[in-house]
Amino acid sequence: MSTVIVTGAAKGIGAAIAEAFARAGWSLVAVDRDAARLRAAASHWGQPVATLVGDVADRATNDAAVKMAIDRFGGLDAAVGNAGVVLAKLIDGSTSEEFDRIFSINVKALMYLAQAAHKALAKSEGSLTVIASKAGLVAQRNSPLYVATKGAAVQLARALALDWAHEGIRVNAVCPGIVDTPMLQEFFDAMPDPDASRRETEVAQPLGRLATPAEIASVVLFLATPAAAFITGVALPVDGGFTAE
Ligand SMILES: NC(=O)c1ccc[n+]([C@@H]2O[C@H](COP(=O)([O-])OP(=O)(O)OC[C@H]3O[C@@H](n4cnc5c(N)ncnc54)[C@H](O)[C@@H]3O)[C@@H](O)[C@H]2O)c1
Repeated sequence: MSTVIVTGAAKGIGAAIAEAFARAGWSLVAVDRDAARLRAAASHWGQPVATLVGDVADRATNDAAVKMAIDRFGGLDAAVGNAGVVLAKLIDGSTSEEFDRIFSINVKALMYLAQAAHKALAKSEGSLTVIASKAGLVAQRNSPLYVATKGAAVQLARALALDWAHEGIRVNAVCPGIVDTPMLQEFFDAMPDPDASRRETEVAQPLGRLATPAEIASVVLFLATPAAAFITGVALPVDGGFTAE
């Protein structure tokens, strides 16, 4: 049986990714800082699940996740760095503390996960997938620091794909468009008229609607399977055509 680590697995895209892997028969190490939601989500997955409550911006959380995969399930075949936060603020109002927080969670945590998982993924010839964003490929308004973190996540994935190719480890970035999750609602709620922002966002998508978390999760699962054995170093938009324009 294969084993995957999913960070930010308590809700939204991460919960859908964990569910997709569970349905495909994988064992899971599910990481989130929200203990109650993580346990509630994990109770629906119906596969061997080890839950780990912690902050991915701490190195120790990532080390513990990999140790858990090895101790409980005998190894690690895939890691998915999904946990992330948004900051809907213009640059003039953004503080150093906000910069440090968003870069710690959206970028530094990926370094910690990659470092923790490297040896185990080399052994399994496994894969690392980071959940970036279409905002890592094209810019968007009103969240410059968020956009900068996602650009960094995309380039980190591409660079690791090159550095680790000779070990048989594949590394990719998935770049979702607008996905209907609690994080997105948080983003809309920060706008002057949340309902109008949601409607405007929906009609601005080429497919005319938002993505579901499951539509992102199925792609993440695919990238971890032998069906994607020759895919590495890609930043794959799953955005309903948004970046085609
Ligand atoms: N929702 C979208 O439209 C969208 C679009 C593109 C990319 N993304 C990216 O997808 C990922 C998931 O987004 P989402 O919309 O599902 O978010 P969400 O807020 O709905 O869920 C994020 C999960 O990550 C956890 N988390 C956040 N910071 C953490 C930390 N420091 N340590 C441990 N757990 C932490 C939260 O507790 C939560 O369970 C993020 O990286 C986000 O940037 C989302």
